[in-house]
Amino acid sequence: MQIDVFTLFPEAFAWFERQRHVANALAAGSSLEYVNYRDHTPLTGGQVDDSPFGGGAGMVLRVDVVEAAMRARYGEDPVSLRDSRRVIALTPGGRVLDDRLVDELAAEPALTLLSGRYEGFDERVLQNFATDRISIGRYVLAGGELAAMVVCDAVFRKLPGALGDEESAVEESFSAALDGAPEYPHYTRPAEYRGWSVPEVLLSGHHARIREWRLEQSRARATEPLP
Ligand code: ADE
Repeated sequence: MQIDVFTLFPEAFAWFERQRHVANALAAGSSLEYVNYRDHTPLTGGQVDDSPFGGGAGMVLRVDVVEAAMRARYGEDPVSLRDSRRVIALTPGGRVLDDRLVDELAAEPALTLLSGRYEGFDERVLQNFATDRISIGRYVLAGGELAAMVVCDAVFRKLPGALGDEESAVEESFSAALDGAPEYPHYTRPAEYRGWSVPEVLLSGHHARIREWRLEQSRARATEPLP
């Protein structure tokens, strides 16, 4: 998986890259690279944004600036780049990220993530350069960097070898293996704590019963109201 993140703050990703599953994915041949819009702006003084036509608060990332950065990276018109590469604009109003979408993205050979700042992108970026608009939830962040990290985190951990042997992304919350339901509860030692005991079945060593109990719990969680 080759991921390019377009951002004004590449340094924000330093901590993220050190996370074990990300480091594992990178060591196994994936890449995570950054393009700073400001490094390619055709405007003077490193300008990348402008005030919105029609008035209103905040600043908008300019379409010419995004195009210049994308051309510098890909040597091609971003309009046609969409035929060969998934280009995702991170925006609060986009398709809400879920496990199904993460699986879909993890199956791509390469992704481009466009982070916005301020009030977001000039609409023409979304219309003409992006193949997808993705939101990590219906709330507004100050910028797309955290959203880009969320997408990368969820995608990288799906790749073979990203998680350690003892972990697996196959049977976890919202996966197809659990019919999209939340994961069953987990317990570890001590078996008894302040009178709170671990369900007997988990201590039974009876694998078939444990499996059945877990699937039941998972199904129940899919229908129970959340606390
Ligand atoms: N940029 C700002 N808020 C966002 C959100 N909720 N999801 C994706 N990108 C964003």
